[in-house]
Amino acid sequence: MKRLAGKVAIVTGGASGMGRATVMRFLAEGAKVIVADLNEANGAETLAVARAQGHGDSVGFLRCDVAKESDVAAIVAEAKGRFGRLDIAYLNAGVGGAFGPIAETSVEDWDYTFAVLTRSVFLGMKHASQAMKEHGDGGVLLVTASIAGMVGGGGSHAYSAAKAACISLIENVAAELGPDRIRVVGIAPGVISTPLVHRGRPDKYEKQFSQQPWPERGEPGHIADVATFLASDEARFITGETVKVDGGLLAQGVALWGTGADNTFMKSAGVNRGTTGEAMVVRTLQSGDQKK
Ligand SMILES: NC(=O)c1ccc[n+]([C@@H]2O[C@H](COP(=O)([O-])OP(=O)(O)OC[C@H]3O[C@@H](n4cnc5c(N)ncnc54)[C@H](O)[C@@H]3O)[C@@H](O)[C@H]2O)c1
Repeated sequence: MKRLAGKVAIVTGGASGMGRATVMRFLAEGAKVIVADLNEANGAETLAVARAQGHGDSVGFLRCDVAKESDVAAIVAEAKGRFGRLDIAYLNAGVGGAFGPIAETSVEDWDYTFAVLTRSVFLGMKHASQAMKEHGDGGVLLVTASIAGMVGGGGSHAYSAAKAACISLIENVAAELGPDRIRVVGIAPGVISTPLVHRGRPDKYEKQFSQQPWPERGEPGHIADVATFLASDEARFITGETVKVDGGLLAQGVALWGTGADNTFMKSAGVNRGTTGEAMVVRTLQSGDQKK
């Protein structure tokens, strides 16, 4: 049995990056999908890929600006009109938005960032949840947040603040919609190799892609796999949660003592008894001891 058989989904920002990868995964798992994006050329390309994989009858594209309420309402109407219902809304579209020192950030750029990254999520939750209540079977509101919304230093001021607001919205709206069996969940990606980050030149960003402990770089498929799980009934008791998908980047923390093999605590073993007057015990490790 396919994990999303019989489900109808919307994926905003579905024409590129992790959105497109998720569209393909949702289709492969039996969902019908409306791809919603501002970029019509990439939307057409996404449909062509879906058709080539034999999913032509299960997918549609609608040009939309997720910051506009009428456009978001139109995506929900398209899902209902074309496929009869809505079960999953993946609110994923995004941009880098405003960057630079706080004193150099214009109100216009700040507002644009919040409109695309945060107002869009509010609008998606507002309209998609109404459609889910109509059929009474519940549903899933899934949001792409970011680790930049969880700690400092992960993105620009406006981007990080906008993603932090999304994480708050996920918790609060989950509490409201739980009784309706509408789950509200988020994914906080680490650094993922998408056009948003590499602009067509992944080789130039190797430093960013190799910051996390996990050896391989983050790929759109890593996000698509988690999105599929969270959207499926296998995750039916998860709501109000934002899942980090970052290869351990945040687990690494402030890394005061270095990272990986350069971490001071990995070079020797023993016990530090502080200022008790008892001696510290230190055992120098031979190369390879750390693995034992
Ligand atoms: N790539 C990363 O490392 C990373 C990390 C954390 C979070 N994210 C988030 O992941 C999400 C997807 O980004 P991606 O990396 O796949 O980037 P991407 O640029 O490949 O895809 C984003 C898509 O969103 C669309 N979009 C942008 N503004 C829109 C609007 N106003 N209306 C409709 N569509 C719009 C774009 O046209 C594009 O197709 C974003 O929310 C981004 O902030 C990305």
